[in-house]
Amino acid sequence: MPCDEAVIATNDDASECKRSAVLAGYWQDEYLGLFVKNPTERKAPEINRGYFARVRGVEICIEKFLHRTAGRPCQIVNLGCGFDTLYWRLRESGHEIANFIELDFPTVTAKKCYAIKRNKRLLDKIHVAEDGEVRLSSTDLHASNYHIMGVDLRNIDELHNKLKQAEIDFTIPTIFLAECVLVYIEAQNCHNLLKWLATHFPTSVFVNYEQVNMNDRFGDVMMGNLRARGCNLAGVDACTSLETQVSRFLDCGWHGARAWDMVQVYQSLPNGERQRIERIEMLDEGELLVQLFQHYCITIAWNGELFQDIEITVEKRMSSLNID
Ligand SMILES: C[S@@+](CC[C@H](N)C(=O)[O-])C[C@H]1O[C@@H](n2cnc3c(N)ncnc32)[C@H](O)[C@@H]1O
Repeated sequence: MPCDEAVIATNDDASECKRSAVLAGYWQDEYLGLFVKNPTERKAPEINRGYFARVRGVEICIEKFLHRTAGRPCQIVNLGCGFDTLYWRLRESGHEIANFIELDFPTVTAKKCYAIKRNKRLLDKIHVAEDGEVRLSSTDLHASNYHIMGVDLRNIDELHNKLKQAEIDFTIPTIFLAECVLVYIEAQNCHNLLKWLATHFPTSVFVNYEQVNMNDRFGDVMMGNLRARGCNLAGVDACTSLETQVSRFLDCGWHGARAWDMVQVYQSLPNGERQRIERIEMLDEGELLVQLFQHYCITIAWNGELFQDIEITVEKRMSSLNID
């Protein structure tokens, strides 16, 4: 489908922008450059800072999950993973995750699998045991605690089947990540997905980063730009406000949910971190960054008592991203 192609291409943009911010010194990521070439053009400081807040905001949620599950086996399921390097960054910082599962369209996972096969530094980190066996196809890769598989998240039967291939455990604490993914999925398909996850994972948390406050001029321009590239934001109705972001999860049977715009997320970061990155580049237009932050948010939804009332504020520094 032509629209799927345009959605798939959004991964190249996201990866390139992250790489740009890493090269500028916003955070460290030794692995991203193994998946994506260096950008040909320097990105605007507002874009770099926006990506910093995105990556750091999602990371804080993961830190909280790891903090609350400390000592217990847990799972991470990265939906629409693109070229995200979280698995390798967590391994590097000493976190042992019982099962780390990455899912995206087969076109994307094929490229990621290819990069993993060709890079010893990536491959070394997924050989968990000395004799750890790695099973490979062109789009899927299975190691003992790392799995990446090609799947259309709109197809629940296929998703279920893939998760079984990855030896998913429905009973242990699980975090689902979706960074700019649900917005590309039609409302009914997204509803089916979130409902299925809520029903099957009684102890789980869902971290969703994506657009919000899209019913204004800024939202119109963003939608117009994407439409011009053949890409519809099929799930944009849930991105009307923080309330619609929350109610989408509650309507699908999640026990609770909270949402923060990126102004709030950025302000919740420790002062030292913000001061460090604010010294990296002068902003061309301060107002533009505020507008960007007002149009993205993080929503956390939870099932079960372990994650009840999870908050965005930083409790404890674990620095798995090596920000400092
Ligand atoms: C903007 S990219 C973000 C990639 C990654 N999460 C990140 O933040 O770096 C969106 C990703 O979602 C994936 N995606 C969107 N809809 C999907 C679907 N129905 N099934 C599988 N993957 C999907 C795209 O292929 C793409 O890799």
